Amino acid sequence: YEGAEHYLPDELELPRLRTAAATCQGCDLYRNATQTVFGAGGEQARMVMVGEQPGDREDLSGEPFVGPAGALLDKALVEAGIDREEVYVTNAVKHFRFVPPERGKRRLHQKPTRAQIAACRPWLLAELEVVRPDLVVFLGATAAQSVLGTSFKVSVRRGELLDLAEEAEVSLDPVPRGLATVHPSSILRARDEARADAYRELVEDLCVAAKAL
Ligand code: URA
Ligand code: SF4
Repeated sequence: YEGAEHYLPDELELPRLRTAAATCQGCDLYRNATQTVFGAGGEQARMVMVGEQPGDREDLSGEPFVGPAGALLDKALVEAGIDREEVYVTNAVKHFRFVPPERGKRRLHQKPTRAQIAACRPWLLAELEVVRPDLVVFLGATAAQSVLGTSFKVSVRRGELLDLAEEAEVSLDPVPRGLATVHPSSILRARDEARADAYRELVEDLCVAAKAL
């Protein structure tokens, strides 16, 4: 597998990218997943939000952030005063990676490998090039590290406005600002009081993003 580069269309525009990504075989993940889950939203969006990879529900529906993590994100966006209609939502990796289920069990999410993240990065960079957002919000370490490099620590840098001209490890043109925060799924995994705190911190980070626009 040689990565997604080879599958990129000559002309970068969203409908073409989406069509091309549907037949991507840039890494092994296309084999077991149902379909490519490309980003969703308009070319005029000023904010791009990047998750890790589609989950079970996204894999089946073909749309990003439509499952439980998406519901939590929607709620946090409302609280932060961000209109989801103005956000382009996507993932660092476009196919669902999961542990093969035992009979009757649901498919369990598995983190994508570094190689898979690198293989899929051309799609993300193409989306950024076409949408030209003012701000990119990275939800969790996979998204952040895809652009900011593997030594970037979300736990240390979350909620900070980032100058991607300085900090990105890939070349971006135009260069948006960035902001990293936790992944909504990490909040769903936390319990009780920790969960309420984690959620409030996510909303606080998203408020910083809202103000930066
Ligand atoms: N988690 C993600 O990172 N992306 C989705 O689209 C859904 C869940
Ligand atoms: Fe292509 Fe990305 Fe899917 Fe791998 S995960 S096959 S690189 S779209």
